[in-house]
Amino acid sequence: MKLILLGAPGAGKGTQAEILCDALHIPTVSTGNMLREAVREKTDAGLRAKAFMDAGELVPDAAVIAILKDRIQSEDCRNGFILDGFPRNVAQAQALDDLGVAIDAVVDLEVADDVIAQRLSGRRVCQDCGSSYHLVHKKPAKEGICDRCGGKLVQRKDDAPETVLDRLNVYHKQTEPLKAYYAEKGILKVVEAKADTSVEEVGRMALKALEAQA
Ligand code: AP5
Repeated sequence: MKLILLGAPGAGKGTQAEILCDALHIPTVSTGNMLREAVREKTDAGLRAKAFMDAGELVPDAAVIAILKDRIQSEDCRNGFILDGFPRNVAQAQALDDLGVAIDAVVDLEVADDVIAQRLSGRRVCQDCGSSYHLVHKKPAKEGICDRCGGKLVQRKDDAPETVLDRLNVYHKQTEPLKAYYAEKGILKVVEAKADTSVEEVGRMALKALEAQA
């Protein structure tokens, strides 16, 4: 199965990707994580992407499409994958179509902007492996330390409140039109999460929406 997780920054794409990945036994392909890894490793692509990411803007399409194309051709993606953070605009969606990638379903996580601002202010990520936590909703076993690798938990630079507003603007202008793009293809599954809808409940809703698809 080839899935896309669509949603605003902080809507819970990465969190739900982990749940769907375990349930469906297919890997997650996160362009955000790949770009952050490139920044950490100071590769040419990472150095070029950093300023865009810090400002909450989209990295130019050609660079993102190139890393995405490489990744989905890997052996572990042969039986399918979950795209988290790609496509981000109609040009990227068309690039996916041009590559001959037949998407089975698009899960659209709908979360109000004020809930997103609250969530992102409490998000902490592991500086070594990138695992994501929340100060209230998803605490690590030991404060400030990653459960998975023991790395230090830090706040993402683009989670600063003013940058979150910029990212939401970019989302509404450039990414939201993808809902109509995929609705027209008949593969859009909308999952509405309220402020108090738990991570587990959103996961159940997403899996149910996909069962209806199968
Ligand atoms: P990317 O890493 O993709 O960031 P994003 O889309 O802004 O999404 P986030 O990772 O911020 O949030 P999420 O939806 O995964 O939420 P999460 O599960 O962490 O992109 C970063 C940057 O890279 C972009 O700005 C851009 O510059 C660049 N980029 C990436 N892809 C690109 C592309 N294709 N083209 C161009 N540029 C690209 O959840 C958030 C928090 O909420 C967590 O703390 C979590 O624990 C908590 N939470 C989640 N669900 C719940 C719940 N139900 N209840 C309570 N808390 C919850």
